[in-house]
Amino acid sequence: MAGTWTAAAEHALSRASLAALLDNRIAAIRIPGFATPAECAAFARAARAGDLKYYSVEPPVGYIGMAQYEYRWDRPKADYFADVPAANARLARVTAASFDPVARVIEHLAAVWDAPVGIGREEGLGEYYAGIVRIASQGIALHADFAPINSPAYAIGRIDAQLGWNFFAEDLPEGGETTVHNAPWNPVVAAGVIPQSYNLPREVVAGAPSFTYAPTAGDVVLFNSRNPHEIAGGPRVPGRDRIGIGSFIGRMPDRSLVLWS
Ligand SMILES: [Fe+2]
Repeated sequence: MAGTWTAAAEHALSRASLAALLDNRIAAIRIPGFATPAECAAFARAARAGDLKYYSVEPPVGYIGMAQYEYRWDRPKADYFADVPAANARLARVTAASFDPVARVIEHLAAVWDAPVGIGREEGLGEYYAGIVRIASQGIALHADFAPINSPAYAIGRIDAQLGWNFFAEDLPEGGETTVHNAPWNPVVAAGVIPQSYNLPREVVAGAPSFTYAPTAGDVVLFNSRNPHEIAGGPRVPGRDRIGIGSFIGRMPDRSLVLWS
């Protein structure tokens, strides 16, 4: 499978690198020192004290917030938007005790992008939820995130590129790396059948270039989430977890960037 990356390396955030990541020409962007050590410690403390839920995937991943993926297909869209205010309230309890990484990411993106950047909106239904806090030490299986395939009935289904960003407040002494495979997800979609995007078979990434990045506390890393990606587990160390927050960033037809989770 031919890769499209000109460099399997991390780049600094700029207008050119952001465009290149959206177009899947580079592997990753890192924003080092996105938060201070004190902000990281406060965020990790607040996350641990937060209202954790668990995704319907194996292995389980503890989280605060809500995932549009869980509503994507067989439920009315209004169900998703009805749950956004309560999820925002759960996240606000964490950010009030630390800082707001979602707002800070929007500031960083808006400083380099030449079109509007903000939380996604659904006509007549309101804003999306953006910013899932995750406490995961056990890894996440190979999957891809791309709304035009996962959620065609939503406004975010009109994007032409999707990134994921993650801020790391606490990292693991070993393990927890993310590996991104340069093999953009392009499944055959049968009418009315939910495409499998999680626990993808290894064949979809066989032979593709890959890039692995470390979840260094204090940093934000962005990658193109249409590329299948996976997170390695690590040996359990009492009191240490991979704690972070992230969301998606999509490029709409008018080139504005919208965030959701
Ligand atoms: Fe993902």
